[in-house]
Amino acid sequence: MKKIVIINGPNLNMLGKREPELYGDTTLEQINAELCEIGRQKKVCVEIFQSNHEGAIIDKIQAISDQCAGLIINPGAFTHTSIAIRDALLLIDAPIIEIHLSNIYKRETFRHKSVISDIAVGQITGFGEAGYFFALKTLISDISVRSDYNE
Ligand code: DQA
Repeated sequence: MKKIVIINGPNLNMLGKREPELYGDTTLEQINAELCEIGRQKKVCVEIFQSNHEGAIIDKIQAISDQCAGLIINPGAFTHTSIAIRDALLLIDAPIIEIHLSNIYKRETFRHKSVISDIAVGQITGFGEAGYFFALKTLISDISVRSDYNE
């Protein structure tokens, strides 16, 4: 079964409690349950990981680099700073979608810069949890298009 990995960075484990006016009331567990359900329905293995630590995120990216058919990542505040996460993502030879719950371009100027957007196939920003579901469904259709192409 093809695998899609979803990685969330620091403070995203606090969704539901953290600035709900920006990030919504839904918890990360609720979002993850919905993502797993989409995976089950579409017969794709969905692996989900969250860490507050830059090194742990890098270790995870390295570990899955040759095993995943697609990656969805919300690096949280590391989006704006982490060249090390960017370097790890360059190991991945599969489509990467960058996602943010809030619209980073409507916020402080230090959030307007993403150090990974140019290596992602696309960025989804400002659509809350719906962005994760859209990203997963898009990667799943991309995988099936690619497998048809290989047949
Ligand atoms: C975020 C936006 C980042 O600027 C912020 O540091 C986060 C969450 C988002 O999902 O909107 O932690 O990535």
